[in-house]
Amino acid sequence: MAIYQVVTLPDGILRDKAIPVKNINTGVLRLLDNMKDTMYEYDGIGLAAPQIGVLRRVVVIDIGDDLLELINPEIIKREGEQNGSEGCLSLPGIVGLVNRAEKVTVTALDRNGEEISLEGSGLLARALQHEIDHLDGILFIDKASETKKVK
Ligand code: NI
Repeated sequence: MAIYQVVTLPDGILRDKAIPVKNINTGVLRLLDNMKDTMYEYDGIGLAAPQIGVLRRVVVIDIGDDLLELINPEIIKREGEQNGSEGCLSLPGIVGLVNRAEKVTVTALDRNGEEISLEGSGLLARALQHEIDHLDGILFIDKASETKKVK
């Protein structure tokens, strides 16, 4: 296990489309472990693989109750809307107001290769949408209605 340095703008990898995982091999499991360690080290609530320089469709999320490890995640349903403040480890010192769905349903593979489906609302829904956007090279500043610098 290892802690990586989180990639920040203007690194172009943040704008690339990540590639689906075909086989959940030891490399993918190690990637999940390293992403988890890095997310906790940075006190983040979510991290996408491109943020540590790996163009794979893998995200980890922990909003405080449980670690979620999602491989090839896809949002299959969006309901309602919420508007709230968001930041990103790849854009240190910037926060913005972003409109997101209030509730999402996501399908993914877990680390055992099992298909899972989960529903999230509120902060979890926000984290899911933010991290899955990273896999398509989309950053919250692309969607923010206003951004400001914070220290
Ligand atoms: Ni982010």
